[in-house]
Amino acid sequence: MSKLLQNKRILLVIGGGIAAYKSLDLIRRLKERGAMVRAILTEAGAQFVTPLAVGAISGERVFTSLFDLADEQDVGHIRLARDTDLIIVAPATADLLAKMANGLANDLASTALLATDKPVLVAPAMNPRMWDHAATRRNADRLRQDGIRFVGPNTGAMAERGESGLGRMAEPIEIADAAATLLGATGAGGVLTGRRVIVTSGPTHEPIDPVRVLANRSSGRQGHAIAAAAARAGADVTLVSGPVALPDPAGVKVVKVETAEEMLHAVGLALPADIAVFAAAVADWRVKRAKNSKVKKGKSGPPKLDLVENPDILATVATLDDNRPALVVGFAAETDDVVAHARKKLKRKRCDLIVANDVSPASGVMGGVSNTVHLVSAAGVETWPTMSKSDVAEKLIARFAELLG
Ligand code: C5P
Repeated sequence: MSKLLQNKRILLVIGGGIAAYKSLDLIRRLKERGAMVRAILTEAGAQFVTPLAVGAISGERVFTSLFDLADEQDVGHIRLARDTDLIIVAPATADLLAKMANGLANDLASTALLATDKPVLVAPAMNPRMWDHAATRRNADRLRQDGIRFVGPNTGAMAERGESGLGRMAEPIEIADAAATLLGATGAGGVLTGRRVIVTSGPTHEPIDPVRVLANRSSGRQGHAIAAAAARAGADVTLVSGPVALPDPAGVKVVKVETAEEMLHAVGLALPADIAVFAAAVADWRVKRAKNSKVKKGKSGPPKLDLVENPDILATVATLDDNRPALVVGFAAETDDVVAHARKKLKRKRCDLIVANDVSPASGVMGGVSNTVHLVSAAGVETWPTMSKSDVAEKLIARFAELLG
């Protein structure tokens, strides 16, 4: 076991959900990696695991109450929140996420989370309907904007009989790995150690005039997750990203661009690489001559946009004579005949692998957190079950490593 978290101090907030039983294993995994773990057990969390069990496994005193005078005298919630390198919230219940998103501070856990100046990683765990609820989505989006990092949730069976879906807490090992990435630990011995990886992500914005652009709805979540997973696997990663509202993944060199032409240029500069993953939703067209001043509404009606085709970055890189990465991976976002279109794209663009997904509005993939993908290569088609975009990323990285051999 590599000591990726050697000498790191972690404050674990255990919320009140059935997944709290896994927090005991999480403490073990974090300690195995060298971390010192202190825990705050919420009142609801204490309904699922006892302070005695948490204390026995962490080997540290367990904190439960904001108004415990002894705690306030010798540690205090402010110090508890700051004398740490990272706070992990696992399980992060819908209630805890709502409190965090709104800045509530009415118990020790929420107060510490508001008082901290350290990175925070949350591992949501709840019933799929609760995760899917507009209120929870809103809270999660706001927390992401606030720089809070997420790991999971995963798809799978729920504690409630017969229920399954997106909402299971990420596995303790995944949470420990995400913590290591966040703290900038390099994955010595990871499957991509020594490899160079380029990932494109997000939409491109093609200017019409100084205030208007042609764009698309890509959030960049899948591409960013792949870049983060590659970094966790030890790769040297350059992420070329269009405009997104996501934080930069830990341990990744991020090059920010606006247009397809800028993206192509940035990818060219980042070569050579062993793997290139083109997850960006590049605008197919740009306005031939963007105006230098704002186009005004007028009597002559709407302006005619003279569009020209953008360079195909994936096809350009896949057909390079020199410098072609050993593994060139494209994405195919389709609203119908997903696999058939992906097969054609594989041939036309000369890439090694296409990750195809259904982005019809009903699928919720565009902008959402989960994805159902088909891997299309010369060897055939493989369909993966629906899972979170971070799980898709992890599995893709493992596959890339296998393919590189
Ligand atoms: O042709 P289509 O846009 O559907 O192809 C999608 C794949 O090609 C994605 O991997 C995308 O990142 C890549 N692409 C590109 N440059 C473009 C258009 C698409 O790299 N101009």
